[in-house]
Amino acid sequence: MTIIDGKKISEDILNEISLEVKQRTNKGYKTPHLAAILVGNDGPSQTYVNSKIKACEKVDFKSSLFSYDSNISEEKLIDEIELINNNDDIDGFIVQLPLPNSINQENILNSVNPNKDVDGFHPINYGKMTIGIDSFIPATPYGILELFKRCKISLDGKKCLVIGRSQIVGRPISILLSQSNEFCNATVTLAHSRTIDLDKLALDSDVIISAIGRPEFLKAEMVKEGAIIIDVGISRVKDDSSKKGYKIVGDVDFKNVSKKASYITPVPGGVGPMTIAMLLRNTLVACRKND
Ligand code: GUN
Repeated sequence: MTIIDGKKISEDILNEISLEVKQRTNKGYKTPHLAAILVGNDGPSQTYVNSKIKACEKVDFKSSLFSYDSNISEEKLIDEIELINNNDDIDGFIVQLPLPNSINQENILNSVNPNKDVDGFHPINYGKMTIGIDSFIPATPYGILELFKRCKISLDGKKCLVIGRSQIVGRPISILLSQSNEFCNATVTLAHSRTIDLDKLALDSDVIISAIGRPEFLKAEMVKEGAIIIDVGISRVKDDSSKKGYKIVGDVDFKNVSKKASYITPVPGGVGPMTIAMLLRNTLVACRKND
């Protein structure tokens, strides 16, 4: 069994990005600049955005954080996005999700300039990704693909079960894995809350990618010997022994599932850091296009 070290792989990617930034600077090119929009004070969202901003410092990107109160109107938020769309110094930006219920997420994502949409959530980028045209790929699915690539894990012809149909992870990774790419070509099943006999589907799968945010949902009895397990879940679970009062737990019962898996990603230290690395890579690509 191999534990896929997403932290180490993400650091390799950050080093590659950092090197390119230095080379760009030496040649007089612009420093990449990532901006993040955060609405409200959701704890996990604040943590994720802070990690993204911190990662920018590591690779010498410029970063900007735009924070708004949860009662900002949709119209005002769209006006703010328009300002960022028109700010030539910002190469790419993200709107951290989820947004408050009073704001229509679709309207917000549609207002992001697709050329700066480094999250790949604008319908133009999502559509391009779906039909296999070069585009910004959402960072978490992109990070999972990169893990397969760097660990030389081929999914060719394999039965792959994706659990969770979210727009951010489950849906896009299910699309990407079935495409005709060197590390994809999988036979994909996308399971969701209405799926019947999930246990049977899971037991029959060569690869399981779980992205539902339910702590330790995937048990060893649901996994076949030698399966490849990718855990996208990040849940906070009460833990009085930790300083923060909680610990981070994935969708997978790691202790027991790891005994059967051939490859498995840990939580934390698996997919999470890859998401940030791929977001920065998308930002670098956006910046290059402005050269
Ligand atoms: N919320 C959870 N994951 C993500 C992500 O990858 N991007 C954004 N913008 N929001 C998120």
